[in-house]
Amino acid sequence: MTQDLIRRAVIAGTGSALPRRRVTNAELAETVDTTDEWIVERTGIRARYIAGDGETTATLAADAARRALESAGIAAASVGLIVLATATPDQTFPSSATKVQALLGIDDCVAFDVQAVCSGFLYALSVAESMIRSGAATTALVIGAETFSRILDWEDRGTCVLFGDGAGAVVLTAEDGPADPAQARGVLSTRLHADGRHNDLLYVDGGPSTTGTVGKLRMKGREVFRHAVVNLAGVLNEVLAELELTSADIDWLVPHQANARILDATARKLGLSPDRVIVTVDQHANTSAASVPLALDVAVRDGRITRGDLLVLEAMGGGFTWGASVVRF
Ligand code: UT7
Repeated sequence: MTQDLIRRAVIAGTGSALPRRRVTNAELAETVDTTDEWIVERTGIRARYIAGDGETTATLAADAARRALESAGIAAASVGLIVLATATPDQTFPSSATKVQALLGIDDCVAFDVQAVCSGFLYALSVAESMIRSGAATTALVIGAETFSRILDWEDRGTCVLFGDGAGAVVLTAEDGPADPAQARGVLSTRLHADGRHNDLLYVDGGPSTTGTVGKLRMKGREVFRHAVVNLAGVLNEVLAELELTSADIDWLVPHQANARILDATARKLGLSPDRVIVTVDQHANTSAASVPLALDVAVRDGRITRGDLLVLEAMGGGFTWGASVVRF
């Protein structure tokens, strides 16, 4: 008797890209009223990358996508769908996803941006994998890319030291596998949430339909921190419970990289050993929608994450939005 197969989206390859210029805390302290000690103690951040001339969200995204396609051994021409998560598009329109499409030389595919700030990659992954499961796509690029340095208020030390620029990408392909998630690979379960009552805790004070300007990032950091720990623990428990898993089953937690203290608190709440958590916030700072795929690519390339590992991806950001996904790599 043949076993029933179901279609899932599998991560066929990963890639990432960073701007040329790396800026340490000590360098920032030359122009901002801050210290390396404060930043490291409160956030775990030691450095971030800042986009320079010619480097934009779309160029970083395209570089990350090229590396992901290369690692998957898939030609750009085979891509039928590009979903790009960003809160810092090159322009209000057209979407940065269509710019990436042009940079990759893809003549015809579906391409659009998704905007859920720091949770953007989880939202984009969910949209792309749903389209793969439904048969609307078979090969997809899912990208998180940001240039937050361009919306930071460099006079506000409470926010400007926290963010960096970069991009991460995954190639998803359709694969028919066992119905039982315990034996399957690919995206196994995703949960997303939003609560718009908290718009005013993390936002940009401009936009095309309000001020007509791009605006700068504003954040009530302490309140965001409090919500982040509670919301992340909640959605992680939800997504694990759906598959009847516990934290003991997780090989790697690949979290949104906002603050090392949030990562520690989340791991503690889950009862997960800190050495099962991928941490890149020290080197990249908070790269918003790019942070999860960037951290994933770092850990795949340095050999920590290997085929067959059970991963949990999670993020929380402005909106608020938050979500988590369980993936067998
Ligand atoms: O990715 C989206 C989600 N975002 C987040 O998850 C961010 C969540 N929040 C955080 O990570 C933390 O709340 C921060 C890192 C933003 C701030 O840490 P905190 O421990 O909550 O500090 P605070 O904002 O309460 O500020 C404490 C003190 C203040 O001084 P007083 O009022 O106590 O004298 C600030 O003025 O630290 C001061 N401060 C700084 N000092 C040196 C704030 N920023 C700086 C700075 N350098 N860069």
